Parts: sequence; C-alpha cells; structure tokens
Amino acid sequence: MTFINTIESLTLEFQEDMGQVRLSFQVQEIEALRIKWMGRKGRLAHLFESLKNLSREEKPEAGKKIHSFEQQISAEISKIVEEGKEARIQAKLSSRPLDISLPVNPPSSQGSLHPITLMQEKLRAVFKGMGFAMFDGPELELELYNFTLLNIPDDHPARDMQDSFFLKNGSAQNQIPLLLRTHTSNSQIHAMLQNQPPLRVISMGRCYRVDNDATHSPMFHQIEGFVVDEGISMAHLKGTLDRFVKDLLGRDQKTRFRPSYFPFVEPGAEMDVQCTLCHGKAQGCRVCKETGWIELGGCGMIHPKVFKNLNFDHEKYSGFAFGFGIDRMAMMLYGLSDLRLLFEGDLRFQAQFPVHAS
Ligand code: PHE
Repeated sequence: MTFINTIESLTLEFQEDMGQVRLSFQVQEIEALRIKWMGRKGRLAHLFESLKNLSREEKPEAGKKIHSFEQQISAEISKIVEEGKEARIQAKLSSRPLDISLPVNPPSSQGSLHPITLMQEKLRAVFKGMGFAMFDGPELELELYNFTLLNIPDDHPARDMQDSFFLKNGSAQNQIPLLLRTHTSNSQIHAMLQNQPPLRVISMGRCYRVDNDATHSPMFHQIEGFVVDEGISMAHLKGTLDRFVKDLLGRDQKTRFRPSYFPFVEPGAEMDVQCTLCHGKAQGCRVCKETGWIELGGCGMIHPKVFKNLNFDHEKYSGFAFGFGIDRMAMMLYGLSDLRLLFEGDLRFQAQFPVHAS
C-alpha cells in the first residue's frame, strides 16, 4: 500500500469513527476518539513513525500530507467537542422541561449581616410594633439643624460635648457652616419641618465625633426616637423606653433614669439598663465598670424652645425624645469587648454572624 493510500484509508476510518461518536456525543466516546487518533500511541503517532521507512524522495511529500491530515483531525475533534457540549445541553433541555419557578442553587459561600445591621433590624422591629414610622436624616448637615434649632446656639458650652468634624469651606456658594452630624437629633428638626403632629418617629444612622479609643469610634451609630402629640408626658417616655428595653433584652430587664442635661429637652435624663453580664451585682464586672448599670443614652421632654423654633404650637403640643448608641447595644447583645471589632472589617469576626435577621 502506498503512503497516499494509507492516509486515504485512515481518513475514511476517521470519518467512520466521527459518525459513530455523533450518534450519542458521549463524553467518554469523544475522549476515546481523541486518544485513538491523537494520543501518544495513536494512529497519527504511528503514521509519523512510519515516515522513517520512506525513501528520501518520498519523505517531503509524505510529510506534508501527514501534517495536513493531522490538522484536519485536530480541527474536527475540537469541533466535535463543542458539538458534544451543545448536544448534551439540548438533550437535557428536551428531556426535562425547564421550571423557572424552582429556587436557584444557593451560592457555595454566603455573606452574613453586619452586627450593626442586625441590631438595626431588631430595633426597627421593636419600634414598628409600637407604631413608630422610620425617617432618614442627612449625615452631612447644616450647623443650624445639628445645633442651633436644637437650642444649642453658637456660643453654648454644650457644643463642647460634641467635638465635631466641620467641612473646610462649608456649603460652597454661601459659606454656611456644614459638618458631619454629631447625633441623630438633627432628624427631629427635619421630620418636624416636613410633618405636622401627631408624630411617632424613629431615625437611625451614622454620626461622627472627634473621639477614638476602645469604647469610642469617630464614626458611630445612633437611634433617635420622638413622639409629638397633645398631652404627651414623661410617663409616656418612661413607659415607651421601658417597654423597648424589655422587648429587646427580656421581660426581667430593669431600667433606671438619672437626671441629666441636654439643651433640647427639659427635663432631661440618661437612661441606664441593668448590666446584662453581672445583672446588677457590679462587683468585679468590667462591662459595667462595677456600677451594675450600662448607659444607653439621653432622653427627655422636647424643650418648648425647639417647638418655637419650628413654629409648632408649644401650648398645644408636647413630646419626648431619646437618642441611644446602637454600637453599645450591639456590644451588649453580642458580648463584644472592644468597639473597634465592629469597624475593622475582619472576616473572621464577621463570619460569626447570621445570614438573615431573625
Ligand atoms: N442627641 C443626644 C446625644 O447624642 C442624645 C439625646 C437625644 C438626648 C434626644 C435627649 C433627647 O448626646
């Protein structure tokens, strides 16, 4: 048999093999085909091997033929691999009707919610249950809304308690002082400018102060709540906040109010919850620093001056407000010893929290 004849008969054999594979497009058959023709001991390898038995004159021509035969085989095998993939998809689609209502496969690794997000979800649920509406206030704020309208004028010493980040040039056009809000109490002003009583509002978000240690971060979270209506008294404030703490931490949880001062409330108070670690025993407890109590934040009856600033009828309406630190609450609920854990973005910490808010 001449060399040319050999290649022709091999071409026929290859076409037959291809026809066979096309009947089923089985992955194993395609692979077997590839090995038979292109493997180390395959047909092509043999053919190359037999070149050496040819005479000098025959070799160049035969070499060319083998080369183009090799290219043809390799191209056709690549083609049949692709055809195989497509054929298998088609076979799957036609054997099982596609049900697009089926749930998708869950991703192999799932993220989890940040403890602050979880905490905010809990707070939202508790206050929603008491009929409060959500309101978002801006983080970049006019000095007017962060301080002045809340009865903290320019020269008031209470501004010292909230060391603030001011923006260099204020608002660009008119140099009105702008700052990062130091508390969520600015939401009181925005909500009251936009709505009329009765109001029952919750506002949560980031606040900023020039502070940085194990229990203070320059960025932190607060929840602000307030109620404005006819006949609202300190009893409503205490009842609402006591109920909130019991919903969050348990029916037996004790609270206490201590007189305090904030220019936008009168009377004003700090609210404490009994230490969740030592349950008031205090001795040796590092969480409550041996006091038996943990401070949640400030509260009080909205100052008539704030109502006057907003043109609310302060004879007719009264209200209460409170502002609590969310980070502190999360630390308590999840037993965290250092506030900075919350904001370092360490995945080993983050992965310990659930995927869904419950
Ligand atoms: N805004 C106050 C603070 O951040 C807390 C507060 C809110 C006090 C509402 C009274 C009423 O310190």
